Amino acid sequence: MKEAQPRTIFLKDYKKPPFLIDETVLHFDLSEQGATVKSRLSIRRNPDADTAPQDLYLDGVDLELAAIAIDGVELSGSGYELIAEGLRVIDVADNFLLECETRIKPHENTCLEGLYKSSSMFCTQCEAEGFRRITYYLDRPDVMSRFTTTIVADKNLYPILLSNGNQVERGDLDADRHFVTWEDPFRKPCYLFALVAGDLLNIDDEYTTMSGRKVALRMFVEPQNKDKCSHALNSLKASMKWDEEVYGREYDLDIFMIVAVDDFNMGAMENKGLNIFNSSCVLAKPDTATDATYQRIEAIVAHEYFHNWSGNRVTCRDWFQLSLKEGFTVFRDAEFSADMNSRTVKRIEDVNLLRTAQFAEDAGPMSHPVRPASFIEISNFYTLTIYEKGAEVVGMIYRLLGAELFRKGSDLYFERHDGQAVTTDDFVQAMQDASGKDLTQFKRWYDLAGTPVIAVDYEYDQDGQTFTLKLSQSCPSTAGDVVEKPFHIPFSFALLDNNGCNIPLIQDDDAVFANAPTELVLDFVKTEQIFTFQHIEKRPIPSLLRGFSAPVRIKNTYSRDELLFLMSNETDGFNRWDAGQKLAVEIIREVAESYAQGAELTVDQRLIEAYRGLLVSESIDKALLSKMLLLPTESYLIELSETANVDAIHHARNFVRDTVAKALKSELLKCYQDNLEAETAYSADFRSIAKRSLKNIALGLLLSIGDAEALTLAETQFATAENMTDESASLIALVNSDFIAPREAALETFYAKWKADPQVVEQWLSIQCGSVKSGSLEAVKRLMSHEAFDIKNPNKVRSVIGAFCNQNIVSFHNANGQGYAFLADNVIKLNKLNPQIASRLVTPLTRWKKFDEQRQALMQAQLKRILDEENLSKDVYEVVSKSIK
Ligand code: PHE
Ligand code: ZN
Repeated sequence: MKEAQPRTIFLKDYKKPPFLIDETVLHFDLSEQGATVKSRLSIRRNPDADTAPQDLYLDGVDLELAAIAIDGVELSGSGYELIAEGLRVIDVADNFLLECETRIKPHENTCLEGLYKSSSMFCTQCEAEGFRRITYYLDRPDVMSRFTTTIVADKNLYPILLSNGNQVERGDLDADRHFVTWEDPFRKPCYLFALVAGDLLNIDDEYTTMSGRKVALRMFVEPQNKDKCSHALNSLKASMKWDEEVYGREYDLDIFMIVAVDDFNMGAMENKGLNIFNSSCVLAKPDTATDATYQRIEAIVAHEYFHNWSGNRVTCRDWFQLSLKEGFTVFRDAEFSADMNSRTVKRIEDVNLLRTAQFAEDAGPMSHPVRPASFIEISNFYTLTIYEKGAEVVGMIYRLLGAELFRKGSDLYFERHDGQAVTTDDFVQAMQDASGKDLTQFKRWYDLAGTPVIAVDYEYDQDGQTFTLKLSQSCPSTAGDVVEKPFHIPFSFALLDNNGCNIPLIQDDDAVFANAPTELVLDFVKTEQIFTFQHIEKRPIPSLLRGFSAPVRIKNTYSRDELLFLMSNETDGFNRWDAGQKLAVEIIREVAESYAQGAELTVDQRLIEAYRGLLVSESIDKALLSKMLLLPTESYLIELSETANVDAIHHARNFVRDTVAKALKSELLKCYQDNLEAETAYSADFRSIAKRSLKNIALGLLLSIGDAEALTLAETQFATAENMTDESASLIALVNSDFIAPREAALETFYAKWKADPQVVEQWLSIQCGSVKSGSLEAVKRLMSHEAFDIKNPNKVRSVIGAFCNQNIVSFHNANGQGYAFLADNVIKLNKLNPQIASRLVTPLTRWKKFDEQRQALMQAQLKRILDEENLSKDVYEVVSKSIK
């Protein structure tokens, strides 16, 4: 018999906490055998509670209770009861001091929640519900407390002992042990608690805030990583400055610490004053980290820093409100990255992720609103919908209000709710109150799942000189029915004349022509809505949903010739790129169709000429060009298909790529040479990044057609590269080529050179496993017994299993079903070790609806196999049970 099914938690059942914890005093004694945690909690009844129970229920998981006392008196067995996932303290007073002693085993903790060991250090991860694995507590974000933390450990093994806030005391103890006490002056929920103990080096910097206060910036790493800190520290200073300038937000403690750990489930964590990062998201030097890593670090450091206001000072009332902090903070970090780099390129990257992965999530079995109504395991809801769509929702408010009113709104939000745990409704209310703009209908975005579809129709009337735009919207919910009520959609719009210039937009006949805007954000609020523009002398081309002003699917209305025109003339950089994507999608689909029918394959010459035009253009911005030369990915092409023929998509895309590369060989060689120039020193500014990127795209294209000259270029670049961007790009080009001996040699050389550096080894693994050429299932399985692999390390799991299942798409979807069985085997294995990683890894199997019937059956069979496992974690249970037909 299987155990009872896990419980679903509903937003509608939210009740205010019956008890509050004013003070939390913690004492940790750390040793190789385990840890002892003593807590002293000053508890009182919540005067505003919805209920007044006699008993106090505390959360606790995998804890051994050693002692418990109230107001200094040890509790007898009748005073409390150990219950599933917690502790019931029977018949408590209105005000009391609860003391508990618990024992935990960090060295056996493989789920990486709570207190655990990563290499030689102790560290914690408490969001969302990890604190309950440390001690009994009210583990919910609306219980905010002042924390004082003392850590005791061996002085030689753990010279560095850290927690949130300011260090207030330290000293030596007997037997080579020492202690440090930290005090955090800000009240916080326990998910923001952190502790680190280890033999770490610190790299220090300093920042002077806008009011002239000096803040110590201190990054802690293992000694071998001391030369990999400067980029993170520079990014941190840039973020602190940006948040002052753009949001008026100043940092509030005297010290800000960052710690890098190798074993981490996510990217990083915003613990108050003590951010903890996955090593791969914070450590960099030019010879080991690629440009993409540099940019990721800049974004994540900013993201975690920005949480100090959007997340810590103002936090979430409950986990249904997760996007309150995550959506807003992703919006903030995206704006920061846009300001630091190319705004257009940042937008292209974000929309690409949204349309490829979030749209797929929202069309799949785990589809949920930005504010979910229920969940079984909150860890499953750290999703692209909460983060990326959540950021789009905030971005839409920004576009509806404009920069100035949005800033008034954020000021009001921070002022009104500082020190509180609040809801997404509170956020929207502040935006509405500060701006005077009615956002009632807009709130629908928070509550409904699914991606709205917009159909566009337009008409030009030569005689009346009017242009009529007709927009209609619908939203297929995941249940298949159509949501009737419309969304409030900011629809950014322009009209282009045949020279590619914006035409003044006059909606009202009385408007003054000279003051007419040339771009508008239309309030699209009805199911069907018509907008008319006057005094349009010639037939224009409409520029629709500029900058991707809303997270919607828009049906293509352009002819191929119009798309070609837009590829060179659109005044909106995002739309210019998107025109190229739309054209390439159409052409690849056409080739895929022929491939599926066994017909002869040909590529529309217009695409080749368009790329030629881009390559020889003198005026195009290199950052944009580097994005325009990339064909839509296989994942995106699959997402756009009703039923995806993976083999046809793979072959068609390769055929188009190779045809373009052959036709443009000399232009690509020139592009390679033009962007080769010897560098003085590596710089991660976006212009240098764009040049390297262009050069390496050209190299990859030339190598994919087996060009001998390109092989020499790649081997030379591989042997002489002075930075990891160029080194790994040449490796990727070789790995994806048909030059078998050179590619094997390069893989071997690379590993021999870098095997001591885990961040580089992660790249080495994912390059191979993500490539159809080197990542056969057998090769991937072999790598899993390689010394470089460790199933307990999430980064390695992502680099091998994740890369194979998500990037090496034709291999994973091999019709023999072995890829699916392989994934299920590993999900089952990881279910016991690390449920969060297991449940995230299973995603590709849950997308069965996109594939043919045979594959659907094979995928379903593997999901059923997982569901039949004994002791399935809540994490895996929720995702798999919701994914089965
Ligand atoms: N709150 C973290 C962030 O977005 C993500 C995270 C969630 C990290 C849960 C660990 C655990 O910045
Ligand atoms: Zn975050």
